Amino acid sequence: MIQVPTLSATEIASDRLLLRKAHSADREGLIELVTDPEVRAYLGGPRPRGDVERHIDAVGAAALTSPPGSFVIADLTTDELIGTLALDRRSAERPGHVTEDGEELELSYVLRRSAWGAGLAFEAATAVLRAAAGELPDQPVVLVTQTANQRSLRLAARLGFRQVGTFAEFGAEQALSTANLHAFTA
Ligand SMILES: CC(C)(COP(=O)(O)OP(=O)(O)OC[C@H]1O[C@@H](n2cnc3c(N)ncnc32)[C@H](O)[C@@H]1OP(=O)(O)O)[C@@H](O)C(=O)NCCC(=O)NCCS
Repeated sequence: MIQVPTLSATEIASDRLLLRKAHSADREGLIELVTDPEVRAYLGGPRPRGDVERHIDAVGAAALTSPPGSFVIADLTTDELIGTLALDRRSAERPGHVTEDGEELELSYVLRRSAWGAGLAFEAATAVLRAAAGELPDQPVVLVTQTANQRSLRLAARLGFRQVGTFAEFGAEQALSTANLHAFTA
């Protein structure tokens, strides 16, 4: 089967959220996501603000979500950036797979610290997986998160992902979880 890369939607709405592509007004929020030590605790630590600003100003905020399946999570009412989410493909060259060929759909999410604890990551992930399930053939989706990242593991379990193993990457133990895409069919 020739794999469709990921879902084609560029905007997805849910009760409280709009998943959309990034624009210049997202600059501050996007910078916060990669410079906040708490948000980056299990993602390799915060990046230096100056480097991040230079990068974003060189490539433009829109470039950060230009790949298919990559979104800003925005507040449906205010359009303010809450976080980012991606449903892309996990390169076969990296560890952590549930199929022989790799390149599975992979879900990842990052929310601003102020947005944690309100079910917004769950809502965003459900909306994207549901949209993908409506468009793509059934296939495994993988989710990789550090085993120390309890919040992310709780979210993965709430979404219906089951943990199938652990492996080492970036000097940390990673939990590999998976779910079938069509489990999210609306
Ligand atoms: C991982 C992360 C997205 C989880 O965010 P989160 O807000 O805890 O996740 P959820 O959307 O599932 O929200 C669940 C929380 O909202 C609460 N909640 C409130 N209203 C809710 C609702 N309507 N629906 C569901 N949960 C709700 C739940 O009780 C739960 O709170 P608790 O964990 O304090 O018990 C966030 O911690 C984060 O951005 N971390 C940094 C980035 C990262 O590590 N990403 C993982 C790499 S893939």
